[in-house]
Amino acid sequence: MSLNRNLRDAKRQKNDDFYTQLADIENELKHYRQHFAGKVVYCNCDDPKISNFYKYFSLNFEALGLRKLITTCYKNQYMDLFSDHTSEKAIWLECNQGTYEKGAYVPSGPVVRHLKGDGDFRSTECIELLTQADIVVTNPPFSLFREYVAQLVQYGKKFLIVGSQNAVTYKEIFPLIKDNTMWLGVTPKGQDMLFDVPEGYAQELVANAKEGSAYRVVKGVIKGRLGNAAWFTNLDHRKRHEELILYKCYSPEEYPTYDNYDAINVDKIAEIPMDWVGAMGVPITFLDKHNPEQFEILGFSSLWDDDFKSHTFYDDYAEMRQDRTKTGLSGQKANGYPILRGRPRKGNYLIKGEEVVYTLYRRIFIRRKGLSHPH
Ligand SMILES: C[S@@+](CC[C@H](N)C(=O)[O-])C[C@H]1O[C@@H](n2cnc3c(N)ncnc32)[C@H](O)[C@@H]1O
Repeated sequence: MSLNRNLRDAKRQKNDDFYTQLADIENELKHYRQHFAGKVVYCNCDDPKISNFYKYFSLNFEALGLRKLITTCYKNQYMDLFSDHTSEKAIWLECNQGTYEKGAYVPSGPVVRHLKGDGDFRSTECIELLTQADIVVTNPPFSLFREYVAQLVQYGKKFLIVGSQNAVTYKEIFPLIKDNTMWLGVTPKGQDMLFDVPEGYAQELVANAKEGSAYRVVKGVIKGRLGNAAWFTNLDHRKRHEELILYKCYSPEEYPTYDNYDAINVDKIAEIPMDWVGAMGVPITFLDKHNPEQFEILGFSSLWDDDFKSHTFYDDYAEMRQDRTKTGLSGQKANGYPILRGRPRKGNYLIKGEEVVYTLYRRIFIRRKGLSHPH
């Protein structure tokens, strides 16, 4: 394994120990109150001693009308997060509905038990708990996000989870978004989120990373920062039914067709032409505005998407700099990206004889719903 890969994996695993702040949980969860009455909630990556997900649901157990709260904790590798975080064993904790005694609500539990194994969300005993749950809510380890989501889908669970917004580009995740099996939460994707981190990692961040970028200091406490966190869910919320107001009309000059995809290019979500019935490539930020009654998602610019395929490839093009010198690379790395004809004002481009093209950022392909007149 290369050194870079090792470093990347180490960083990813560190991000697995980013602990979600209560305010971020409250800000997202307030949009879903209607879904929780009478439900069993399971937080399966949560040490109840430190998890704010556990804290949120235990504090709001009655207000949400929960039937049961189950939390399981992975035997933690970082023992230094908080002074009382000393559990050597993975634990399982359950809170049940309380009762009213002399007019006062007396919560039942929590009952704490030890798990036989290490509390891995994929273990038989955790899957057994998962089958009892209606809704899973947590911030799972980012490095296992694909597997984590696959398991939720396999067991047909409702969920609300934190992940990296990059996950929308994973070949295992994008099809779920495309099919409206899963969508983004209410907090805008890519909004800065700060997380509590284990003490040792906090010191590492201060020693090796850039303040403002990898971490921030809030009231003297070092918080890990993710500039690209996002909530993923299959619980309905009001924002995904809000109609995007469109005001522009199509013109071939403003909305050129890609060289390699049968779609027009739209650079800004606000500029989606209201009268175009065909496919359009839009920036990934579109997902924050996606309303499934207004738009259909057709595909993603990548070589793995079989539904919306690139029909042109650039292996026999040469990459050029703005000063017209060759970089020495071929156009192969542009394959799958959306490509426009012509020379860009900035950045490198590709040539083959008289043909000149350039690459754009990745795009999601969408189509308006309910427009019947071909342009
Ligand atoms: C990103 S942290 C978030 C923790 C907590 N859910 C929160 O939001 O504060 C992910 C957590 O998953 C735990 N974890 C790592 N691998 C796991 C696994 N295979 N099964 C269950 N939990 C795991 C880590 O120990 C860590 O506590």
